[in-house]
Amino acid sequence: MDRLAAEHEVEVWPHAMPPPRTELLRLVGGCEGLLCLLTDRVDAELLDAAPRLRAVANMAVGVDNVDLAETRRRRIPVGNTPGVLTDSTADLTMALILAAARRLVEGREQVLGGGWRTWDPMGLLGLELRGAVLGIVGMGRIGRAVARRAAGFGMRVDWCGRDDPAGLDRLLAESDVVSLHCPLTAATRHLIGRDALARMKPGAILVNTARGPIVDQDALREALRAGRIGAAALDVTDPEPLPADDPLLAAPNLLVVPHIGSATHTARGRMADLAVDNLLAALAGRPMPHPV
Ligand code: GLV
Repeated sequence: MDRLAAEHEVEVWPHAMPPPRTELLRLVGGCEGLLCLLTDRVDAELLDAAPRLRAVANMAVGVDNVDLAETRRRRIPVGNTPGVLTDSTADLTMALILAAARRLVEGREQVLGGGWRTWDPMGLLGLELRGAVLGIVGMGRIGRAVARRAAGFGMRVDWCGRDDPAGLDRLLAESDVVSLHCPLTAATRHLIGRDALARMKPGAILVNTARGPIVDQDALREALRAGRIGAAALDVTDPEPLPADDPLLAAPNLLVVPHIGSATHTARGRMADLAVDNLLAALAGRPMPHPV
């Protein structure tokens, strides 16, 4: 804020909840730069409402909330925040893998609900990571950071690109844990649907720290309820948040956390820095340091 205010007049949406669409459209009317979050949809309607806009700085690495064809057509530069949230997201991925593999949610429920009565040689048995196969879909910065961590746990790591159907089929068939690290695009929407879930090893674990719509949640609910796969651990859903009565939340062996992949003090601070770097550069007529 200080860096922006030193050079520009800054208007800040002061509430924790995102601005309602009509408010956002009204507020961008006079803006030359926009520092937005992944909860703000930047599309033709918004760009029409912001005729003076010269720069969009998304405080996220994912940019599926921005219509890049529209911004490109209007020659408005868009920046994101790559790199600085790689480690925090990879850490959370390992936390989700471990939580699902070692059944932490069920364990907590037993402890709080009085269900834990004695040490049980067969109680809450889970997946041992050493020797298990981790399949990574999308071997970009975050996928690679997860692979390094998983290797430290003795996992055998395999991967495939997001546009490699044969590779994905192989990966799904052989992985004990499948972890998604691809961006959300038209091609990856519902990449993990009925067919993909049916190809997963019985009892395997699905982890998603990428974007909710990459997984078909109806298909996931069915697979969990039928015991087709062992567990799912999701940092992202569609929509976010899920309504409390969403049927997915009633599925067994499901852990959902509230999109906290980048939620460390370090990562969020650096994301803010990068978003400001991008905005200040573009408003000064220089190339953004982290253009999309
Ligand atoms: C968070 O989800 C991000 O894309 O930065």
